[in-house]
Formats: sequence, C-alpha cells, structure tokens
Amino acid sequence: MLSQVKKIIAIASGKGGVGKSTVTANLAMAAALEGKSVGILDADLYGPSMGIMFGLSGASELHENGHIIPTFSHGVKVATLAQLFPADKANVWRGPRAAALVNNLLNFVHWGNLDMLFIDLPPGTGDIQLSIIQGCKLTGAIIVCTPQTVALADCLKGIDLFRETKVPILGLIENMSGFICDNCEKEHFIFGKNGAKDLAEKLGVPLLGQIPIEASLMQGGENGVPAVLANPNSVSARAFGEMAVSLGDS
Ligand SMILES: Nc1ncnc2c1ncn2[C@@H]1O[C@H](COP(=O)(O)OP(=O)(O)OP(=O)(O)O)[C@@H](O)[C@H]1O
Ligand SMILES: [Mg+2]
Ligand SMILES: [Zn+2]
Repeated sequence: MLSQVKKIIAIASGKGGVGKSTVTANLAMAAALEGKSVGILDADLYGPSMGIMFGLSGASELHENGHIIPTFSHGVKVATLAQLFPADKANVWRGPRAAALVNNLLNFVHWGNLDMLFIDLPPGTGDIQLSIIQGCKLTGAIIVCTPQTVALADCLKGIDLFRETKVPILGLIENMSGFICDNCEKEHFIFGKNGAKDLAEKLGVPLLGQIPIEASLMQGGENGVPAVLANPNSVSARAFGEMAVSLGDS
C-alpha cells in the first residue's frame, strides 16, 4: 500500500503536548498548498488529533476487503481510526494490540500516489513508534521540541530512538519558540530562547524551523482548518511554508 508513496516522514517528540500534531497538520497542509500530493496517518491511538484538526466527522472508511480509505480534507488525505475507539477505552490498545493496529494502518490504508506521507506519532518512545519504524521504510523523522531545558532532555531520548534504529533524522522543529505580543509587538521568550536551536547545533542535526506561539495555530486546530490555510500571512504559516518547500526538495 505504501509502494506509490515517495516520502514517509514521522513526526515525533520525547515529550507530550509540544505540538507534534499541530506541526503535522500544518506541514502537510503547507506541502499540499505547494502542489504536492500529501497524506497524513494518525498513529496516535491514545490521543488522536487529526480528525479534529482537519474537521472530519468520522473515522476513515473501512471496506469489507479490509482496506481503509482515507478522507480528503482541504486537499489532504487523512487516515484516522480515532472514532473507532472511544477515548475512555484507550487502555485496550496498549502493547501488542496497539502494534497490531498500527500494522493494519500501514498495510491496509489505500493511499494511491503520494509525494509525502506524514505520520503523527504519540509522545515518547513506545510500542507504536517501534511498530512504525519496523513496519515501513521511513524516509526520516522530524523531532518537535519546545525551548525549555526539561523538554530538551526528553527530546534527546526521542532522537536516540531514531539513531539506534538507523532512521535518518531530518531535523528539529522548535515549537512555541516565542510569543509575538499584540500589545507591545515584541517577541517574548516565555519558554527560553533558542533552546532547540542550540541543541540542534550540538547534535549536528539541522534546525528545520522555529514556530512562535500564535493564537491562530491553536484556533486552526480547534476549527478543523489548519492555520497555514486559514491565516496564510501569519508568522507561523510562512515558517511552515518554507519548511514544506525544503522538505519537498530534499
Ligand atoms: N505554536 C503554537 N502556538 C499556539 N498554540 C499551539 C502551538 N503549538 C501547539 N499549540 C497548541 O498546544 C496544544 C498541544 O498541541 P498538539 O496537540 O499539537 O501537541 P502534541 O505534541 O501533538 O500533543 P500529544 O503529545 O498529546 O499528541 C494544542 O491545543 C495546540 O493547539
Ligand atoms: Mg498529538
Ligand atoms: Zn508585550
């Protein structure tokens, strides 16, 4: 099912809540706006976000032959099984069962031709990450982190997993890198300044971009219209656009 997919990029982080899903949604949307054919696989079985972030009303369609048909939203193909398992039943999907479900997603989603497939991972370095790494040939991984020191320590663990499993690390994205104040128009570095940038230099991996804290990013996620589409002139939308171009070229 993945044979016609040119690039498979996993979006990972050591720590939860740093903005992986927001980055996945906007990077994919930005690539689609650049004219690429793009898909998103929501592999976060414990906290799936793509349905909400793309305004989908249900899970991807399941066919009798076992194939899963992704849903088109804003020109992006999204596969999510979110609505098939209620949030309060999340524990059912631990361990081997989670791995089996991830393998089904890799093997049975009917993507067709894609320039890029983005995989939104759950936080950390567990069964799902391993199943993805073992179950498909990743072009590479992007690690999302925030600038503060505690987050950076977790970020190192995330990087380690991909290094050990020989998955190329395409680079770091520093999210929530500063807050552009609409009161004084200065950028306030609430979580510290350039933490991920310095880490990327130290580790010798590229820093793909820095995304500020912007209300439009959060609102885009809630409204089901990614900010790069809803607010194309925002600072973050332009940053995602540049990253999408360089990922597409590389
Ligand atoms: N740069 C940003 N500016 C404003 N809000 C943001 C930004 N990045 C993320 N958010 C918001 O922070 C929250 C967490 O983001 P998101 O769900 O993308 O993180 P995550 O890493 O995928 O979390 P999880 O580990 O639970 O999967 C969301 O409400 C999102 O809208
Ligand atoms: Mg997420
Ligand atoms: Zn201010």
